[in-house]
Amino acid sequence: MPHTSQIAVIKGDGIGVDVTEATIAVAAAAAEVVGGFSLSYREVQAGAGYFAATGRDIEPDGEETAGTADAILLGAIGLPAIRHADGTEISPHLRLRERFQLYAGVRPARAYPNAPQRLADPDAAAIDLVILRESTEGLFYSAAVHNRSEVIGDSEVRDTLRITRPTTEKLHRFGFRLAEKRKARGRPGRLTCVDKANVFRSMAFFRRIFDEIRPEFPNVDADHNYVDAQALDLIRQPWAFDVLVMENMFGDILSDLAGALVGGMGMAACAEIGDAHGLFQPAHGSAPDIMGQDKANPLAAVLSGALMLDYLADKTGAGAMADAAQLIEESVYRGFAERRLRPMEFGGDMGTTAMTRELIALVGERETRRAASA
Ligand SMILES: NC(=O)c1ccc[n+]([C@@H]2O[C@H](COP(=O)([O-])OP(=O)(O)OC[C@H]3O[C@@H](n4cnc5c(N)ncnc54)[C@H](O)[C@@H]3O)[C@@H](O)[C@H]2O)c1
Repeated sequence: MPHTSQIAVIKGDGIGVDVTEATIAVAAAAAEVVGGFSLSYREVQAGAGYFAATGRDIEPDGEETAGTADAILLGAIGLPAIRHADGTEISPHLRLRERFQLYAGVRPARAYPNAPQRLADPDAAAIDLVILRESTEGLFYSAAVHNRSEVIGDSEVRDTLRITRPTTEKLHRFGFRLAEKRKARGRPGRLTCVDKANVFRSMAFFRRIFDEIRPEFPNVDADHNYVDAQALDLIRQPWAFDVLVMENMFGDILSDLAGALVGGMGMAACAEIGDAHGLFQPAHGSAPDIMGQDKANPLAAVLSGALMLDYLADKTGAGAMADAAQLIEESVYRGFAERRLRPMEFGGDMGTTAMTRELIALVGERETRRAASA
């Protein structure tokens, strides 16, 4: 019996809907080629449009439905014109991150041939790194859902940077395992702890836990870099890094920087993983400026879908899903190399529909290519 994984899908707002539908179509094509598993989707209504229509930001029991699924696939949530009475935007997805303690934020940045390369150095073609951003504490702890900033009248505001041992141990182990996995796929297998341990006790603690865990993973090259030096190195020699683990705010900033090095928002895939749940979404928003125009680049979502398949392979033991994830990644790479993927985002002539159609064709060619090389 082929394994079936249940996916809770929140298409959300604006281009979130289009890129999610593209992801589902490409994942289905990969499942068909690889065989041995299938994906079944249960849609959950949520977002700014849903809020405008119903007064709720997510359907009743939507969070519970997401919690019982094997994975959550999300497009994008939010429209600047639709807000709560206090002026904040509609953001039920932040509650999901908190509720399911999705501490490991995985944000790959990979250079694709013929896609924009922001650095003049030809070595930039070899950029292939992952920012691992802790996503439940750090300097974001007092913000968002916790709302714990210390406000002293109108004269001072204090935010807390929180580092806890249990989360940090799990985060670093996640980072080492990710580096091991990448090593098995031909990457260097290196993990860099990015911190500010020379100044902050919280960061010295973060680094100490990294060093405590390091001996458990002798096959991974481990080192440290201060965050300011890391910002310099991400411009000077980003190709020299593999996996970089850091607290929430540093990851927030450096993952955007890394994403910009290899294109733009339409390429920025993201996984948010906890002990029992995983949420997969492109890092971009609903892009109101291009919504409804078939102009969105679906690749960030499609590559997030590949991260989801990889996660499900680990979770369920269905290795075919890891094959499907790799097939999608290879298809994106080959599509750029052969100039068959030309997103409008980068000045090309292909909108969401054309990109999706070509991706499905690329994925479907694996058998033909295998037969030809046999
Ligand atoms: N996780 C999320 O769901 C998430 C993340 C960021 C922003 N938002 C929300 O999205 C709305 C718009 O936010 P924003 O404009 O600041 O950010 P955005 O990411 O939606 O758009 C920023 C710019 O990037 C472009 N862009 C983004 N994704 C693209 C894609 N796939 N292809 C081509 N171009 C793309 C947009 O056209 C726009 O010019 C807001 O309501 C915001 O709160 C949601």
